[in-house]
Amino acid sequence: MTSTLNPAIASEKSYNRNEWQRGYRSLKQEFDYWIEEVEGTIPAELNGTLFRNGPGLLDVNGQRIHHPFDGDGMICAIAFQNGRAHFRNRYIQTEGYLAEQEAGKILYRGVFGTDKPGGWLANLFDLKLKNIANTNVIYWGGKLLALWEAAEPYRLDPATLETLGLDYLDGLLKPGDAFGAHPWIDPACEQDGGAPCLLNFAIKPGLSSKITVHEFAPSGKLLRQNTATVPGFCFIHDFAITPHYSIFFQNPVTFNPIPFLAGLRSAGECIQFHPNRATKIVVIPRGDGGQRTGGKGDEEVRSQSSIFETHSGFVFHHANAFEDGDEVVIDSICYDSLPSVEPDADFRETNFGALDPGQLWRFRINVRTGNIQRQMWDQRCVEFPTLHPAKVGRSHRYLYFAAAHAPTGNAPNQAILKMDLESGGRQLWSAAPWGYVSEPVFVPGHPNHSQVVGAEDDGWLLTLVFDARSDRSALVILDARDMRQLARLNLRHHVPYGLHGSFTTECFV
Ligand code: CO
Repeated sequence: MTSTLNPAIASEKSYNRNEWQRGYRSLKQEFDYWIEEVEGTIPAELNGTLFRNGPGLLDVNGQRIHHPFDGDGMICAIAFQNGRAHFRNRYIQTEGYLAEQEAGKILYRGVFGTDKPGGWLANLFDLKLKNIANTNVIYWGGKLLALWEAAEPYRLDPATLETLGLDYLDGLLKPGDAFGAHPWIDPACEQDGGAPCLLNFAIKPGLSSKITVHEFAPSGKLLRQNTATVPGFCFIHDFAITPHYSIFFQNPVTFNPIPFLAGLRSAGECIQFHPNRATKIVVIPRGDGGQRTGGKGDEEVRSQSSIFETHSGFVFHHANAFEDGDEVVIDSICYDSLPSVEPDADFRETNFGALDPGQLWRFRINVRTGNIQRQMWDQRCVEFPTLHPAKVGRSHRYLYFAAAHAPTGNAPNQAILKMDLESGGRQLWSAAPWGYVSEPVFVPGHPNHSQVVGAEDDGWLLTLVFDARSDRSALVILDARDMRQLARLNLRHHVPYGLHGSFTTECFV
């Protein structure tokens, strides 16, 4: 269903929590098949592979995990070839997954509250966190990497999804090092003569936190890295880039390690959000040791990191950023408060209406004066932003999101929203009342992904939708120009709600 926004459509609840919950069941089987049940037509020009990551197991042998963020990572690969599509899913054979499957029980403490059975005594001083590799998956430099922000990536075979082991990025990482789960691809890096490069960050937490931004060539080779040390604890999940800067929002949170060390609470439960404290915005230049980075004069591009203060609430995800004269402009999804992970709460019983919605805001930071202006784009509850890959770091007209069906209030993601920031137009494709969507991925209609060829919205949006009526999931393909559904590929089973993924033009069947 496509509709232009009409506030009248939201008079009744568009979802049913019991139905929503069913998308959070483990998928224990691994599949390989050509998708036969297709409604509509898969565009013949859509060729490549969509990789998705997310928690596939919500229990270990019947012992429920406390929070989906603690679930073992499972990769889905949907490969498109000449109008057909192939599905494959595999569990990442992490050390923790293999040990727990062998033992038939939970052996590790989860970051978000999954305790080993045995109460606080069993958890006392057990600091060994399980690298569950469940947050994102990227294909870069010939490697398929499953990412989890608190540890090293796992490398997989892109064709078979077989786990090849931990990957240390040619010696860049040491055992136990963190590597972020939110890389960005700069489609045309000024410093590299217009070649694309991949940026990702790593955080070493402590009394002050060290943020390192790595930049990699298409071959996978490290090109440069920049570091900033910021006072205080950092809980940073995502960042944003422009041609000359990397930008981080240091959310106003503190970490109290005592209950964690004592085994009473998980690490995630020891994070406290302070709604009345400022958010710090850390701007780190991307240059080589403060050298001229081209395009702008020395005096215009700051060579030192800067920290600015504003109010944002809590931010997980940024949609995009760009430079406009002295200003760095960022579109980010902000929450008034961070819901705390409660030790006794069951995420399946989430009271959606009681939580703050995530909403899109624009921040304009004058890096010369430190002045910051902010403005809300839209009240609608949105998450998982995406855009044309050639617009990353550049000024954009269109953004796409997983969104609530209703225009106001917090609710599960049932729709895909397109925002036209130039005209103010909004278009919504909704799967309500039975469907629950995942992150949309934008695939340009033209095979050259580092340039906008034709219109900025010429392309497709791919999203996995859980359908509570059939108890199965489907991959839905939308035309990003008018948000019309082109095809719905019904899978033979459900896929638990996932986190992030990416598309590559290489087709791995
Ligand atoms: Co994320």
